[in-house]
This record gives sequence, structure tokens and C-alpha cells, in this order.
Amino acid sequence: MEEFQIVKRKRKKTKPSYKIRPNICEDQAASCTIADIEKVIARIKICKEELKESCFWLKFKESVERSLEVTSSSYRCQQGFRRDEPLKEEEVVPCITDKLSSLTIKNQVIENCEEIGNPTNACQDEDNCEIKIRKNVRDLSREYEVLVEATTGSNQEGQDQSVHSVMQSSFSVDSIVCYGLGNFSSCVNARYQLALLLLLLDHFQIAPSRGFCYDPVFTTAENDILKRYDLSCLKSNEEGKRRVYKPTIFFMPHCGKPLYNNLLWCNWGNSLANLIIIGNSFQQLEERFPSKVLEEEVPYIKAILPFVHQVDIVNNFKFLDVFNDIGVHVFPTSTLQQAPPMMWTFKKEPSYSHLTDVEIIVNKS
Ligand SMILES: C[S@@+](CC[C@H](N)C(=O)[O-])C[C@H]1O[C@@H](n2cnc3c(N)ncnc32)[C@H](O)[C@@H]1O
Repeated sequence: MEEFQIVKRKRKKTKPSYKIRPNICEDQAASCTIADIEKVIARIKICKEELKESCFWLKFKESVERSLEVTSSSYRCQQGFRRDEPLKEEEVVPCITDKLSSLTIKNQVIENCEEIGNPTNACQDEDNCEIKIRKNVRDLSREYEVLVEATTGSNQEGQDQSVHSVMQSSFSVDSIVCYGLGNFSSCVNARYQLALLLLLLDHFQIAPSRGFCYDPVFTTAENDILKRYDLSCLKSNEEGKRRVYKPTIFFMPHCGKPLYNNLLWCNWGNSLANLIIIGNSFQQLEERFPSKVLEEEVPYIKAILPFVHQVDIVNNFKFLDVFNDIGVHVFPTSTLQQAPPMMWTFKKEPSYSHLTDVEIIVNKS
């Protein structure tokens, strides 16, 4: 009888591609005590310090700065799309007067006049208000921005951005919106991403209150922790449909495609030039998914691909799955102008109900 030799199958040694850490996501559902909150805050502090010292942050900053340079150089208003120079006073006032035709907007203007320290009673009617604006139009650049935000903000769907174009002659980041961090109290990747958000706010000298955060999975404790940093927690699920009127960084690490698609849809046209999206590499999406799939599922991402300027993030952080596949995406005006005009007329609100695997949490209707 033949002897059998028992050979232990050798386990194939695989080289880990990144350092292995304990999985800290297991206490996801656990309720947080004050001591737990303090512990999370201490951990965030460590993440921030580590990140700040890292070569990753150095390179990351450079990539963001480079993207901003590209987009800011073409940002200055251009004729027809944006202009090189602010409009003259005589062009501005009719433009504002147009906007004043709506009562709601007029009320907002009155509120803004109050805000800028004008006597309220001088703005009781449209004419007075216009006179006030005409008088102050040269000097009150800051207050004027508030006015512009109010008028354009109340006309979100409108295509006339003439007033908006007037003011946007300089390019500086106004705020940072962060979607889809995940449970940073229990997940170390999300914690490093939150640390990066805090570093970005410091770097651009943006007040923490201009950092807007939302993820439907945030726990009450996590919202409380964000508030401890003076960050603003968005109260509702806007599904990424946020229109912006000033340069805004959208920090969306590893979010689902529909969230980017919704954001693009909501800013389709001139407003795209205000977006700086730090999130999943669009270029990699293009490589990974057949064009037909992108067209059917996320048509706005598909359509913008030829007109986006992307700077890849060098993924040299010690944990390779925190900032992998991330790029900084900007939409320079000069590039957007090359798109066929037809492209901007397509503006149907995205819907994902036909998809089986939906990567976004939507509002319950
Ligand atoms: C793949 S996870 C990424 C989590 C984390 N940033 C990471 O890199 O591990 C996608 C995140 O998007 C969030 N998300 C889904 N729908 C969202 C919405 N409507 N608004 C904001 N975030 C959303 C999910 O809750 C989830 O935390």
C-alpha cells in the first residue's frame, strides 16, 4: 500500500499593500458618552498632527494650489460667459433693477440694506432702494457681494447670471462643503479625512463656520463633535444639489457617483467654474466604466469629462486606502466655453430610481 504523505498546503504569502491596522469600525452603532466624545476629539487631533507633518499634505496642498491657479486665471469674468472687467455702474444698476422686479427679491435687498448699515426706512420702496445702491455701488464692494448673493441665490434655476458675473472678478475660496465623510468616530479613514478638511480650512484661512458637513450616517455625537470645531452641520440631505455662487471646495472623499452627478447638474453652466471638487478621480471613472454606463447612470459626469481639468493626488500617505483614487477637479471658464452650446441646454434633474445598485442616500419622499 502506498503511503500517503500529508503535505500541508503552504499559505501563499501576500505582501500587504498597506500597513494593516485594527479595524476600528466595529463600534459604529455604539452610543457615545462624553468621555467617548473627548476620546474621538483627541484622536482627531492626533490625525491632524500626523497629517500635517506628512509628505502627503505637502504634495496635496501643491495639487490643490495648482488646480486653483488653472481655474483662477480663466475665472475673471469674460464677455458673454464671464467678463474680464467688472461691469460699469450704468450697466450694473439696470441689471439689479431687473432682479428687483420680484417682490421676494426686493425684500431680500431691503434686508441686505439693513445689514450693510443703511437706514431701513430709506429702503422702504424699490426706487429708494435702487438710489441707495446706485450711490454706494463703487465703494461697498463687500456689501455688494451680499446683495449679489441674495439676488442670484433667489433665482437658482434662472440662467441670467449677469449680476453674479459682475462681482466675480477675483478668485478666492469662499467655503468648503464636505459630503460623505462617513462615521469618523469609529472609522479611522474618515477620521483622517476629517483631519484633512480641518487642515484645508486652516490653509485657506476659511472660518470653520464656512465648512459645511453632511453625511446621512452621522450620529448625533458626530454632529456634536463637528460643532465643537465650529463647523456647520447641514440639517437636510441636499443630495449634493447645492448651487454655489462663489468658488467653493467640495471635499467628497470616496463618495458615490450620483453625488458628483447631482452637484454638476445643479451648477450646470456658468456655475461650474465655482466648483473645486476634491473627490474620486473622474479620469479613473472614465477608465473603469463603459461610456454607455456613465451616460445612462451619471450623464452629467459623462458630459463634463472632456472639459474638466484634473490634478491627481499623489497617494503617498502611510495608509493607502484613505486618500486613494482622489483628484482635484476644476472647470476653467476658458475650457467650458469650448463645449457645444447644446450641452448646456440639457438640464433634466437626475434620477437614479432605475438603478439597482444606488450609491447615494436620497431623501425619503
Ligand atoms: C463609500 S462611503 C465613503 C466613506 C469615507 N469617506 C471613506 O472614504 O471611507 C460613501 C459615503 O457617502 C455617504 N453618502 C451617501 N449619500 C449621501 C448624501 N446624500 N449626502 C452626503 N453623503 C452621502 C455615505 O453615507 C457614506 O458615508
